[in-house]
Amino acid sequence: MNKLLKLSRVNLSYNTDNNLINVLQDVSFEVDYTETISIVGESGSGKTSLIMLIGGLEKASSGKIQFKEFEISNLKEDQISEIRRKNIGIVFQSYYLIPNYTALENVSLTLEINKMQNPEQKAKEILDRFGLDQRLNNLPSQLSGGEQQRVAIARSIAMKPQLILADEPTGNLDSENSHLISKILFDYVNEEKASLIIVTHDNNLANQTKRKIIIKDGRIG
Ligand SMILES: Nc1ncnc2c1ncn2[C@@H]1O[C@H](COP(=O)(O)OP(=O)(O)OP(=O)(O)O)[C@@H](O)[C@H]1O
Ligand SMILES: [Mg+2]
Repeated sequence: MNKLLKLSRVNLSYNTDNNLINVLQDVSFEVDYTETISIVGESGSGKTSLIMLIGGLEKASSGKIQFKEFEISNLKEDQISEIRRKNIGIVFQSYYLIPNYTALENVSLTLEINKMQNPEQKAKEILDRFGLDQRLNNLPSQLSGGEQQRVAIARSIAMKPQLILADEPTGNLDSENSHLISKILFDYVNEEKASLIIVTHDNNLANQTKRKIIIKDGRIG
């Protein structure tokens, strides 16, 4: 496949209390290599659900999701997590750092799991680049929101993923930190020729992407 990602007629529904909720309906779109896309839409429109599906953290009810040569909608959980570990970096609004691990450990763990050489040194290099050289040994609770998000992004890019999924990465940050985070993300995709899918309410951020996808009531407009 010459596209990085292709969604074909994807549906996602949840069955709660015998009530079927259609969260995503008939969603189809493609993402090129090196493309940057923002996803915008009202609260509850299905943006996070879409990110979870693409990252293989949630399974589609029907439809096809292809990532590179893999049809992830057909694969088992352990196969999907291996593809994710090697190819996809996910950044969430609420960081999800490991609370009892330092900034350095949060990043080096990812490299260790993937059996990279010198995980600590590599983690330190990335954190230094993100201006966190004085915060390596701090726990997440000892870091500001902007610093925690920088650690979370350092962790997500440590394996040099081809695709970054970012779900409102600046949602909790002031404008100065938002600016810094968006610079870090766009510098990464430019340098590594990666693709970025970013959910954001921030127009400045959305306007920096090549393409904008609008989602309304679980459908793409
Ligand atoms: N596990 C679940 N079970 C049932 N319904 C769910 C589940 N997860 C999400 N939903 C529903 O799916 C819809 C879309 O949720 P989603 O989190 O994708 O929205 P969103 O666009 O990310 O919103 P926000 O901007 O507030 O983050 C919502 O109506 C939500 O209640
Ligand atoms: Mg959301």
